[in-house]
Amino acid sequence: MQRKMRVLVTGGAGFIGSSIVSVLEDKGVEVYVLDNFSHSDYKNLMKAKGEIICADILDEAVYKRLPELDAVIHAAAITDTTLTDDTKMMNVNFNGFKSVLNFCLDRKIKLVYASSAGVYGTGPSPMKEAQKLMPHNTYAYSKYLCDCLAQKVTNKKNSPLIVGLRYFNVYGFGEHHKQKSASMIYQLYLQMAEENRPRVFKYGEQKRDFIYVKDVARMTVEALNLKASTILNLGTGKARSFNDIISILNRLLKKNLKPDYFDNLYEGKYQDYTEADITHLRKTLGTTVYFSLEEGIKDYIKSYLSC
Ligand SMILES: NC(=O)c1ccc[n+]([C@@H]2O[C@H](COP(=O)([O-])OP(=O)(O)OC[C@H]3O[C@@H](n4cnc5c(N)ncnc54)[C@H](O)[C@@H]3O)[C@@H](O)[C@H]2O)c1
Repeated sequence: MQRKMRVLVTGGAGFIGSSIVSVLEDKGVEVYVLDNFSHSDYKNLMKAKGEIICADILDEAVYKRLPELDAVIHAAAITDTTLTDDTKMMNVNFNGFKSVLNFCLDRKIKLVYASSAGVYGTGPSPMKEAQKLMPHNTYAYSKYLCDCLAQKVTNKKNSPLIVGLRYFNVYGFGEHHKQKSASMIYQLYLQMAEENRPRVFKYGEQKRDFIYVKDVARMTVEALNLKASTILNLGTGKARSFNDIISILNRLLKKNLKPDYFDNLYEGKYQDYTEADITHLRKTLGTTVYFSLEEGIKDYIKSYLSC
């Protein structure tokens, strides 16, 4: 009898990783989670059936203990972009990626990894995969290096499938442990649910490409079926403002809270407008998002936040 497909998910206890685990398990895939639980919540994995390996992606010994696998989805990273320990950031995000990449190259198995829209920095929007990359913090630089290395490796003959996904602004269930680095949607929901006026930088017209975690997890898993290595934007293709989120939340929570605007201390370093160009995503993966911002926030509140 043919064995089930086996996939290792690094960072599987985190926000996006745990949704990926759940999509894979719903498809009958045998999942292995590799996570050191440094920035996660065990509750994210309460429904997971697969084997949990509590270890660091930098621990080379752990790779020797892994069973035969078909693919790796790499989501482990330091995700707090404000962390000031650059050594730690580079070590986990870039050296950790190298370890995972080398493991996949040695075993000749597929790799789908989480990159970030942060690599575009304050570059022009809609952001295209081929445009000049301008990372403006160490986190974004670490992701930029991963993309450069992936491209170098895939240019060589006989490379297994390697797909980088530049996630835009992801929101949804399982992000509570991220606290200040959780999505704007989560931050504003918490304030407004407590009857507080939502606080945003003046004048709330900054725009982001917000994508629901269910779409991100589904498309990440679908990327395992691609035939050629590539780097793709994973966004909705529609930038929406902070004011839009506030209006949607007011409507769904049946409130009428006015925004409390304050000065943006990061003026100049701040991405005012991010939007994914999804031409390459649509053509290559043959799919885009199922959830608009309205539908995603509604699903998030109804199924998770208000429970
Ligand atoms: N959330 C977003 O909006 C967003 C946007 C762009 C890119 N990404 C990328 O998506 C991936 C997942 O992000 P997330 O939002 O789920 O963040 P998260 O912090 O919830 O998840 C990261 C996971 O990695 C684990 N981890 C960290 N260091 C580790 C190590 N050394 N060894 C093993 N496990 C380790 C953490 O415990 C956590 O479970 C990351 O690579 C992140 O850079 C996220």
